[in-house]
Amino acid sequence: MEKLGIYVHIPFCKKKCKYCDFISFSCDEGKYKEYIDALENEIKNTSKNIVPNIHEVSTIYIGGGTPSLIDPIYIERILKTIYQNIKVAGNVEITIEINPGTVTREKLETYKKLGINRLSIGLQTTDDKLLNLIGRIHTYGEFLETYNTAREIGFTNINVDLMLALPTQTEKILVDSLLKVIKLNPNHISLYSLILEEGTVLEKEIEEGKYELVDEDLERKMYHKTKNILEKNGYNHYEISNFAKKGYESKHNLDCWEQREYLGFGLAAHSYYRNKRFSNTNDLDEYIRNIKEFKFTKNVETHEIQDRESKAKEFMLLGLRKINGVSISEFERRFRVHPLFYFRFEISRLDEEGLLEVDLDNIRLTKKGLDLANQVFEAFI
Ligand SMILES: C[S@@+](CC[C@H](N)C(=O)[O-])C[C@H]1O[C@@H](n2cnc3c(N)ncnc32)[C@H](O)[C@@H]1O
Ligand code: SF4
Repeated sequence: MEKLGIYVHIPFCKKKCKYCDFISFSCDEGKYKEYIDALENEIKNTSKNIVPNIHEVSTIYIGGGTPSLIDPIYIERILKTIYQNIKVAGNVEITIEINPGTVTREKLETYKKLGINRLSIGLQTTDDKLLNLIGRIHTYGEFLETYNTAREIGFTNINVDLMLALPTQTEKILVDSLLKVIKLNPNHISLYSLILEEGTVLEKEIEEGKYELVDEDLERKMYHKTKNILEKNGYNHYEISNFAKKGYESKHNLDCWEQREYLGFGLAAHSYYRNKRFSNTNDLDEYIRNIKEFKFTKNVETHEIQDRESKAKEFMLLGLRKINGVSISEFERRFRVHPLFYFRFEISRLDEEGLLEVDLDNIRLTKKGLDLANQVFEAFI
């Protein structure tokens, strides 16, 4: 059986955070039902087209937006539809993204009953002033309530999302957040450097001079400090932005970085299936209308159909995100050629520049390569 991932996008948020350009918006609850009806029909239709009897769903990731905003009855309907239409492995990892300020004990209890076994909680920082500045709807106290309730109910696999290089965030504020979160002992911590996205409120405020971006040197210092603190506290740095206690790496993300197939359902959801990368429309009304009219393919845009070369390049690009890097034997198994031969020019140049290192088993980023990761990735584009 081949592993298959499923991503489900819930594009609703109570209020838009100032830095975020993910496809999500606040809208009235009437839209939720229309959307879930469409989503169920998309899952049913796509399942008819997947190759029979070769896949087993190993991970389901319900992301957003804010999946915890909507009534959990909708989450139940989505999971039931997946189970009724696609073969799901007994040990499937099911993650849901939840936001403090939208979660109740009842919602968490329902998630548990539905077999959801991994929570990803968006915190970003423990500093209430900073949470307010970036437009989050919750305080640190509300996060704590959500986290502790989830533990009481029996969730044993919890991720916490944090951000670094936020405007006005000092090294002290960051370290304070890290230490407070570490004390709670989550199984996984993601730490994303702020990307200043075009068209966001934060971009406007920075242009107007209301805030300043953290400079590159401080950002790098913050990143190294984070890595140091988390590693000292038993978190294994396994991907550029991700740290986990042993055995708690995100299976869903690891499968994506190992170029395994996944199907995305819902607005703007991306898929990778049979050497093809494609995504759904970003337009909510168009998405729902096309599905109501059974014009499923009108929602889909193809981005790439991979040949062997583009697939091998992408395998490197994705694999180098992992701290262990690309497995030489896995590359050989998939592409029937040694990667050090296939990418001899790229690898020898990056090696000379001190950005890559190679041993008998793996090709990976060096410490310098980790700082200049985008430069390394460009070599394989
Ligand atoms: C898209 S959100 C979805 C989950 C949930 N709505 C939340 O806010 O926690 C997933 C994560 O992406 C990160 N993120 C969103 N926008 C970002 C940006 N512009 N730069 C860096 N990280 C960002 C945040 O850490 C957030 O927790
Ligand atoms: S809650 Fe999450 S998805 Fe929604 S706007 Fe904020 S960061 Fe973006």
